[in-house]
Amino acid sequence: VNHLLGIKYINEKDIQLIFETADHFKEVINRSIKKVPSLRDITIANIFFENSTRTKLSFELAEKRLSADVINFSAGQSSVKKGETLIDTVNNILSMKVDMVVMRHPNPGAGIFLSKHVKAAIVNAGDGAHEHPTQALLDSFSIREKFGDVAGKKVVIVGDILHSRVALSNIFALKLQGAQVKVCGPKTLMPKHIESLGVEVETDLRKALNWCDVANMLRIQNERLDISYFPTTREYTQQFGVNKAFLDSLDKEIVIMHPGPINRGVEITSDVADSKQSIILNQVENGVAIRMAVIYLLASKIK
Ligand code: CP
Repeated sequence: VNHLLGIKYINEKDIQLIFETADHFKEVINRSIKKVPSLRDITIANIFFENSTRTKLSFELAEKRLSADVINFSAGQSSVKKGETLIDTVNNILSMKVDMVVMRHPNPGAGIFLSKHVKAAIVNAGDGAHEHPTQALLDSFSIREKFGDVAGKKVVIVGDILHSRVALSNIFALKLQGAQVKVCGPKTLMPKHIESLGVEVETDLRKALNWCDVANMLRIQNERLDISYFPTTREYTQQFGVNKAFLDSLDKEIVIMHPGPINRGVEITSDVADSKQSIILNQVENGVAIRMAVIYLLASKIK
């Protein structure tokens, strides 16, 4: 069975195939054709052990636009609360003739673990601080849409790199496509040996933003943060937050991205999030086409 467990496990050719397939689905959606019959005989379970707005809804929409049957599972309202294990939970769902599982889980590697124990295609919708592959794909797809190509683009990822699955998947995806990548954030929120992934660390936000074409602004992952970590939210905003005056004072006009959810006034102010330099809602729009492409390509290996 084929899975999408992380960008680490795919290659540049896979990414280009996903993008070409997503181009097709985006074009179909833009022609107001909101449903295609491709996956009429496929059933998909979206199982979420962590909160989500964008990923959960766009997977569900992508699946419905492909005419798949869809069931949704939220751990908080399930028998997980009575002590049922992950494998038992998923095997019970699969016994209802489900073909594919889209899973978000707080534990890094949960998707990899599951893929070794159950017979279904697994799509990782975010596993702890490990990977969020479809987010990285939709981010790169959005850069490609804006600039025509990802190769050679200068991208800085700003924020809590240590706890961010979005950062790690983006680094893998951007490097595979030949982008230049820097990371910028507090030293306490920077993984040790991050340079071994082929990225440069820049702790001065102004220098980082004057260098880049695109800044991907991440939120602090408070839910994964040890209380002893510096800095406080206020200190973080002072050193790494971007407001409109700061953006306007840069040497060039850069593109602002954010995976969401935004903590307005912390990592970016509203007038940055909603500015003409922001492509944040384009990222969300592209998420549906990317997820349609991923599911379509994986399902073609099941049938
Ligand atoms: N970007 C992202 O994963 O958002 P959600 O947590 O709302 O799905």
